[in-house]
Amino acid sequence: MIHTRICDILEIRHPIVLGGMGSATSPRLVAAVSNAGGFGTLGTSTLRSEQITAAAKEIRAATDRPFGINHLLFRMSDENYAATLAARPSAIAFAWARPEQDLRSIFARAHDAGAKVMYMASTAPEALRAAQAGADVLIAQGSEGGGHVGWMATIVIVPMVVSAVAPVPVLAAGGIADGRGLVAALALGAEGALLGTRFLATPEAPIHENFKQAIVASDGHDTMLTELHDIASGIVWPGAMARVQRNAVVERWAGREWAVRQNQASIAREISDARKAGDADNTTLLFGQDAGLIDKITSAAEIVQAIAAEAHNIIRTRLTACVRN
Ligand SMILES: Cc1cc2nc3c(=O)[nH]c(=O)nc-3n(C[C@H](O)[C@H](O)[C@H](O)COP(=O)(O)O)c2cc1C
Repeated sequence: MIHTRICDILEIRHPIVLGGMGSATSPRLVAAVSNAGGFGTLGTSTLRSEQITAAAKEIRAATDRPFGINHLLFRMSDENYAATLAARPSAIAFAWARPEQDLRSIFARAHDAGAKVMYMASTAPEALRAAQAGADVLIAQGSEGGGHVGWMATIVIVPMVVSAVAPVPVLAAGGIADGRGLVAALALGAEGALLGTRFLATPEAPIHENFKQAIVASDGHDTMLTELHDIASGIVWPGAMARVQRNAVVERWAGREWAVRQNQASIAREISDARKAGDADNTTLLFGQDAGLIDKITSAAEIVQAIAAEAHNIIRTRLTACVRN
C-alpha cells in the first residue's frame, strides 16, 4: 500500500483524488471515488447554491468517507460559497483565482467551517501565493491535463511547485491515468495525484456515453489548447486555455477566434445543442493527453484500486531492482 502525508491530511486510504470537474462530476462519481479509498471532489461551476446543498446531501447518503467541493474562484458567488461552507465538506478545492482576490480571507472561512483548503495552480508563483494564504494542499497542474490548464508540463511544474511551497504537500495533476503516473508524481516530490480525464471514462461519470467513447478511442495525439470553448461560452478565464479534442467544431473555428467572437451566441447554441445530443464532433470535448492511456470504460472503484496496486508494484519491483549499493 502506498501511504503519504496526503492520506493523513485527507483521511483517505490511497493518495488518489478526483478533480472537481464542473458538470462532469456528480454525487455518484464523487461517492464512488471516496468509497474506493480515494478522495472524491464535486465540481460546482454549473450549480446554484441549493443544488450544491442537495448534491452534498446526496454524496453523504452514498458514502460516509471524506469528500471535497470544488470552486472556480474567479466566478464563485457568495451564495455558492455559503452553501459549500454550510455543507461542511472535508476539503474545499479552489482553482483559478483572479489576481486581486483575497485568498487569505476566503481560505480562513473554509478553515472556520472545519474544511481543509486545496488550491490548484499551474505556475509556481500562483502556488506560493496560495500557500502563503494558508492552503493546506497545493495541486500542481500541468498542461497535458484536460480542461483548463496553464503552459508548463507536469514533469516540470510539479517539482517547481514542490520546492516553492515546501513543506506544504503537493498533488500532481495533468496527464496521470495509471499507476505509472502516480509513481512519477511521487518521484517528482508530490504526495499523490489528482485525476480528471481517467475518471470521465467511467460508468459513473455524468457525461454522454459518446463522449466517454471518444476518450477511449482517442490516442491522445488529437487534443489541443484553444480559447474557442471560452470565447463561445462568454467566460473569460484568468490565464487559462482549455485542452479539448481537435474535433470537427474545433477544426472549423481554430485560428478564427475573431469570427467566434462575432458569432458568439449562435456558436454557443450549436455547441450546447450538440452536447445535449451527444454529438461528439460538434461540441467541445474537454479531455487530456492521457486519453492515450485509456482504452476502456472502467468503474471508478476499479481505477482507484488498479492505480494504487500498480504503483505499489512498480515501486516494490521495478524501482527497487534499479537500486545498487
Ligand atoms: C471536463 C473537465 C472539466 C474540468 N473542470 C474543472 C473545474 O471545474 N474545476 C477545477 O478545479 N478543475 C477542473 N478541471 C481540471 C481537473 O481538475 C484536473 O486538473 C485535470 O483534469 C487533470 O488532468 P487530466 O485530465 O489529465 O487528469 C476539469 C477537467 C476536465 C477534463
